[in-house]
Amino acid sequence: MVRVQTELPKQYWICDFGDIFNMKKIFILGASALQVPAIKRAKEKGLYVYALDYDPNAVGRSEADEFLLISTIDKEAVLEAAKKYQPDFIVTSTSDLPVRTVAWVNEQMGKENGIAYEDAICATDKAAMRKRMKECGVPVPAYHTVNSAEEFLEKIKPLGDKFVCKPADNAASRGVVLADKKKLLDKAKGSQEVDLEEELLKIYEYTHGFSRSGEVLVEEFMTGPEVSVESITVDGEPHIITITDKMITEEPYFVETGHTEPSRLTKEQQDDIRDVATKAIKALNMSYGSNHTEIKVTPDGAKLVEIAARLGGDFITSRLVPLSTGVDMIDCDLSCAIGDKVNFEKTKDEGSAIRFIFFEDEEDDGKEHVIKSIDGFEDACNTPGVTEVVLYKAIGDKARSLTNSNDRVGHVIATGKDADDAEKNAMEALSKIHILYD
Ligand SMILES: Nc1ncnc2c1ncn2[C@@H]1O[C@H](COP(=O)(O)OP(=O)(O)OP(=O)(O)O)[C@@H](O)[C@H]1O
Ligand SMILES: [Mg+2]
Repeated sequence: MVRVQTELPKQYWICDFGDIFNMKKIFILGASALQVPAIKRAKEKGLYVYALDYDPNAVGRSEADEFLLISTIDKEAVLEAAKKYQPDFIVTSTSDLPVRTVAWVNEQMGKENGIAYEDAICATDKAAMRKRMKECGVPVPAYHTVNSAEEFLEKIKPLGDKFVCKPADNAASRGVVLADKKKLLDKAKGSQEVDLEEELLKIYEYTHGFSRSGEVLVEEFMTGPEVSVESITVDGEPHIITITDKMITEEPYFVETGHTEPSRLTKEQQDDIRDVATKAIKALNMSYGSNHTEIKVTPDGAKLVEIAARLGGDFITSRLVPLSTGVDMIDCDLSCAIGDKVNFEKTKDEGSAIRFIFFEDEEDDGKEHVIKSIDGFEDACNTPGVTEVVLYKAIGDKARSLTNSNDRVGHVIATGKDADDAEKNAMEALSKIHILYD
């Protein structure tokens, strides 16, 4: 860690390496585990790193040169710090809302940014996103934005028996749920009075509880396989690095349980996916930077789930993409921001897969269960092709069936000669881990 004692005359300033006054300084918004790879890479690139996070215990704190206890969504506070510390660059890595802050603060400081603030709103607010994408001719599901329970009941009428309800401004699938009118009626069968409206309003309230702005989206339920597209835009031109097959939980929640790449969908489907992803990226007017685009391949063709103007999370860009393509997207993303040459050439064509470990409850009562024992960790680690096994919880911690990404218990990552091989290896490792719950 570099420490500067500014009260001393210059000849007494203490520095572990080089002269920090020749080093370019960077603000990295977010110091959680997700941002650690970017913090480390920025340091490797010779930058003096300030990590910003509202959490004083953020794991990235010790990786950075300096830590600033500032919320990444408090744009005024970040601006104040930027004026004080005068960083050369201000970036974030894999979180959504800081994308807005970075765009706004860079604009206020008169600095370049890969995406304008107005466009960053369209990349982080699902209502603004749907509107922009529709205007730009990107295929999206039928949708409505609602701001009250009355409006909700009115707007869901044309959406049919099944529709998706989601908060406008949250992530990690928090509050995203499928409403199935038929199932709700079946569930209530036998009871004297079936009040469908009441049941539907419970769903609205659930989703509304996760919306910061209070805005909720109701959408046509898209069926078909789902993928994510990782890309990097350089000089306004999007370059698709890879397409990843996504696995999600059974309805009514949509939590990601695994990712495998490269995608095994047909060439025609993948061409359609590339086309939709490219249109979506262009609709954000990106001049440079990374995108993580989620797409459903419906019977009517590929349609956008959402697009983010940042690196993909869930270990896709930090682990899977380098393992299967050799492309270091974290480096690409940083290089864009600091004006270095961006090296997005693939050096490999292999498979990689992540499978999440989670509590599966047959009764699905939504209750929390205490972890009693964990076996097979070493065995899983020693499975051919496995590159890592990580548990986020320990004996004594609680887990419950998945309603959002934070309910997951751990993951395994594996490589293979192709996607099927990587998946097989990951599944084998997964089968070796035995967790007992009370
Ligand atoms: N209209 C829809 N039709 C079908 N499935 C949908 C629809 N909207 C969302 N989903 C499912 O719900 C998941 C989460 O939705 P979305 O990506 O909009 O929320 P999120 O909170 O940003 O999730 P994450 O951060 O995990 O990507 C999607 O990946 C998809 O599987
Ligand atoms: Mg999503």
